[in-house]
Amino acid sequence: MTREPAIRWNRFSQLLHWLIALLILGMGIVGLTMTLMAPSIDKLKVYALHKSFGITVLMLVALRLVWRLAHRAPPPVPMPRWQHVAAQATHFALYVLMFAMPLSGWLFNSASNFPLQWFGLFHLPALWGPDPVVKHWARDVHEWGFWTLMGLVVLHAAAAIKHHYIDHDETLRRMLPGLPPPDGDGQ
Ligand code: HEM
Ligand code: HEM
Repeated sequence: MTREPAIRWNRFSQLLHWLIALLILGMGIVGLTMTLMAPSIDKLKVYALHKSFGITVLMLVALRLVWRLAHRAPPPVPMPRWQHVAAQATHFALYVLMFAMPLSGWLFNSASNFPLQWFGLFHLPALWGPDPVVKHWARDVHEWGFWTLMGLVVLHAAAAIKHHYIDHDETLRRMLPGLPPPDGDGQ
């Protein structure tokens, strides 16, 4: 009996996938909590940290996209065509939202005329001048973008769990670190 080689995501892709997922979930929890805080120095500090970590997510997502375009993805696990198309569309939308979240936050910050520093180490330029219309629009994108992202992540994670426990295929295992290195050249 021949066994197909397990073609997996490489370690760096796995690291970026799980690190960015954790950061985004943490950013969401902090973002929703900090807006409820009473005005204080602590609130300002949490806002500053939210922004610095958010810019870090933007850098990691840009690195991830470059890495993704420079390396071949592992070939799709055999599955019905509609599932493959749905997975591709979801992954594309997840990438769009992974960029839209930090960029809309940065735009909101700029249009509100707040300065932006990265962990107090350097200043980032404003993406836009002070502008109440852009400010309002960017804030809506930031808030509703987050809920859209969460909806897609629930679908995405449910699909991964279904592939693992119901279809018993490699979809989830090949994105998990700590398993044997790939037999093939999957990236
Ligand atoms: C992955 C990145 C990010 C995620 C997931 C995220 C998520 C969130 C969430 C869920 C909220 C609460 C929204 C609400 O209910 O009003 C929020 C608020 C906020 N975020 Fe982000 N954020 C990210 C990046 C950034 C960045 C890079 C900046 C600025 C440079 C930023 C600036 C803000 C500000 C200023 C608020 C408060 C909005 C207000 O006071 O109404 N965020 N964020
Ligand atoms: C904020 C959370 C998450 C985001 C933004 C995210 C995003 C993505 C993206 C964009 C891909 C496509 C890989 C690429 O082309 O670079 C992917 C793949 C994958 N994700 Fe996530 N993900 C998240 C959370 C999760 C969770 C919670 C699970 C599982 C419970 C999961 C399981 C997987 C698996 C198994 C793959 C590989 C799919 C395949 O090989 O076809 N992800 N993820």
